[in-house]
Amino acid sequence: MLRKITSIDFQSNNNTSQCVLIRVDFNVPVENDIVSDDYRILKSLPTIQYCLDEGAKIVLMSHRGRPKGEVDNNLSLMPAGERLAQLLEMPIKFSHDCISEDAIDVSRNLKSGEIHLLENLRFYDEEVSNDTLFASKLAQHGSIYLNDAFGTAHREHASNAGITKYFTTKGMGLLTEKEMEFLSENISDSEGPISLIIGGAKIDTKINVIKHFFDIADNILIGGAMANTFLSANKYDMGKSLVQKDEVETAKKLMLMASKSKTNIILPIDFNGELNTFGSGKLHYATIDNIKKAMICEDIGELSINLFTDIIKKSKTVFWNGTVGVAENKDFATGTNKIIDSIVDSDCNSIVGGGDTIAAIRNYKKGIIEEFTHASTGGGSCLELLSGNKLPAMEMLKK
Ligand code: 3PG
Repeated sequence: MLRKITSIDFQSNNNTSQCVLIRVDFNVPVENDIVSDDYRILKSLPTIQYCLDEGAKIVLMSHRGRPKGEVDNNLSLMPAGERLAQLLEMPIKFSHDCISEDAIDVSRNLKSGEIHLLENLRFYDEEVSNDTLFASKLAQHGSIYLNDAFGTAHREHASNAGITKYFTTKGMGLLTEKEMEFLSENISDSEGPISLIIGGAKIDTKINVIKHFFDIADNILIGGAMANTFLSANKYDMGKSLVQKDEVETAKKLMLMASKSKTNIILPIDFNGELNTFGSGKLHYATIDNIKKAMICEDIGELSINLFTDIIKKSKTVFWNGTVGVAENKDFATGTNKIIDSIVDSDCNSIVGGGDTIAAIRNYKKGIIEEFTHASTGGGSCLELLSGNKLPAMEMLKK
């Protein structure tokens, strides 16, 4: 059983406050030493605030980027600490090394209500190799362990797997609890009709999600460059659009599986795009049976938008992972934006995940992301759960 934070007592027997070591996911983008997207930091605040309210001492640890065991100042967690200090309006102690004696001393000397952030765990190879000694040193920072790093839960690393055996009191932070509730438990019990919208470029990263939703979803709407491969499997000429030739057979198999299930696969029927090359600026529209040899499809067209949004309006639950066009380019963001509008205007339960999709929603309209029932902070971890798989870090937390 995964333990919830609300069942944990943050005071020790002699009524002193305990030190809680929290694995967070502060793997955030930084530009000129300033956090440029603080979504993951914002989402960690409820757990941190809960622990502060309980009078705990708090130590935070995270990775940032993939420094491969080398100290890389461009991947420091200091900017994340500064952003956190701004958001909480309080000073945050920072240690330049996550396992040094000095760092452990800072944690031991914390007072109730103080926060200590450790430097990037992946400056040590031992984090990724799930090294026992490294995990045991990290464990010296606290007496209670919480995992609130949902975005990293598909990894089996020292700070989220090896470390768990050193704690008797351990559990999920509030963010992880919410992610697990919406992405793994009872997906098949969701209120129907259920629709899954899948987008992005590559089929291979989403095959298992599509398979898992056969006989769960009523509809699977496919957009993004991935749709080109499905349409190519249906013998449509996609011009110069991105098609994963080596996945055409997979697309055929998936459509055959769908035909034997209760699930309908719905593909786009028209596109906006460009002629000749990406970025040529020669905008072009075509229906599926009219695609020119020189066309690159980069967004779903108006007919497809109507087809998709009609289905969304009739759905009671919508899962969404992957944009339906090149949403970072405003010429090809319309399909994705119309889907956002249609989801928030309907009264369906909406569960959205994936870095590009979350970024597209946040870039579209300030605050609109809060109108989704659940917006995941996970990329790979979200896909794993939607594929019906277990997350190693969560399995370790149960032991
Ligand atoms: C993410 O950004 O998806 C998580 O922080 C995990 O990062 P990783 O893919 O480098 O393990």
